[in-house]
Amino acid sequence: MSLTVGVTYNLKKDVPRGENEPIDALEEFDSEETIDAIGRVLQSDGHDVVRLGGDAGLIDRLRISPVDIVFNIAEGMEGRNREAHIPALLEFLKIPYTGSDPLTLSLTLDKSMAKKVVISEGIPTPRFKKVEKMEDLRGVDHRYPLFVKLCYEGSSKGIRLNSKISDSGALRERVGWLLETYGPPVLVEEFVDGPEFTVGILGNADPVVLGVMQIEIKGSPPGEAIYSLEVKREWEEKVRYHCPPPISADLLKKIEEVALRAYRALDCRDVSRVDIRVGEDGTPYFLEVNPLPGLSPVYGDLPIMAGRMGWEYSRLIRTIFHHALKRYGMAGSDRNRAG
Ligand SMILES: Nc1ncnc2c1ncn2[C@@H]1O[C@H](COP(=O)(O)OP(=O)(O)OP(=O)(O)O)[C@@H](O)[C@H]1O
Ligand SMILES: [Mg+2]
Repeated sequence: MSLTVGVTYNLKKDVPRGENEPIDALEEFDSEETIDAIGRVLQSDGHDVVRLGGDAGLIDRLRISPVDIVFNIAEGMEGRNREAHIPALLEFLKIPYTGSDPLTLSLTLDKSMAKKVVISEGIPTPRFKKVEKMEDLRGVDHRYPLFVKLCYEGSSKGIRLNSKISDSGALRERVGWLLETYGPPVLVEEFVDGPEFTVGILGNADPVVLGVMQIEIKGSPPGEAIYSLEVKREWEEKVRYHCPPPISADLLKKIEEVALRAYRALDCRDVSRVDIRVGEDGTPYFLEVNPLPGLSPVYGDLPIMAGRMGWEYSRLIRTIFHHALKRYGMAGSDRNRAG
């Protein structure tokens, strides 16, 4: 049976530019090629694809073009609940959609809240403090070096090569810059200086690891490497991806375990990418989880990982979609089983 599948998204080109906005203001939004690529996979499986966008006009578009299910990659526009806005609307309208629910999307976008939940499950994550204003820095009693980042942003917005902090002067300077340029809150974290990995996970009742990908920044020893905005924008020259990574079976297992525990603790659905960094003592630390991982067929970390694991892009999209259909008891209408 063919389904009518809506696709929700926010495109860089549709977002109005503000005056004096930071260079990475639009970093989270998607490009048309990604929506085309997802649409092509769904169409090739016999489904009708309706582009719904991600602005308020979506409500009218849904009335005019009813859909059976939505493939959601919308990042949302404002605030820490922005990724949850469209899923909440779809939930209210009883329209099935791919990916995590509003609670998980809000919880994971706010990195400090996500960390509180993973800590409650005993999952290692760097010690941290949420900073709303400069005076809050008085309560920072953590071990240097530290790392400063925005509390609810992704795509390395606000993260630069100098986000690693080695003294209190640099801490004040960097936190001041983030508060002024982007606004609060800022997360001050202990710096984890070992190798970095990102873990792709798919599924629901019994989630499985798609792959573990080590991120090596060319020319930087692990202790200095930061997967910053500068690096992500020039990933072809600056990053070497290793998937599967050249590490011991024991470490690989520990990384997978931490990622799966975090996925479960945060109630992720269908798909997520968990970012992990290994400490000096060999402990994998949870940094954050991305329940809306970038799906660009060219530069998305998850599609790159899938490719290294021998998966075509279409298989990745199909599998995410299939997990959603299965959750809603609609899997019989999925003609091309994936997984
Ligand atoms: N506590 C930390 N210790 C060491 N490095 C860190 C720490 N926190 C973040 N980083 C570095 O900064 C990068 C970006 O951080 P993080 O993944 O939290 O941000 P993001 O912008 O949400 O990323 P994404 O693009 O995955 O959404 C990490 O990939 C890592 O290189
Ligand atoms: Mg990340």
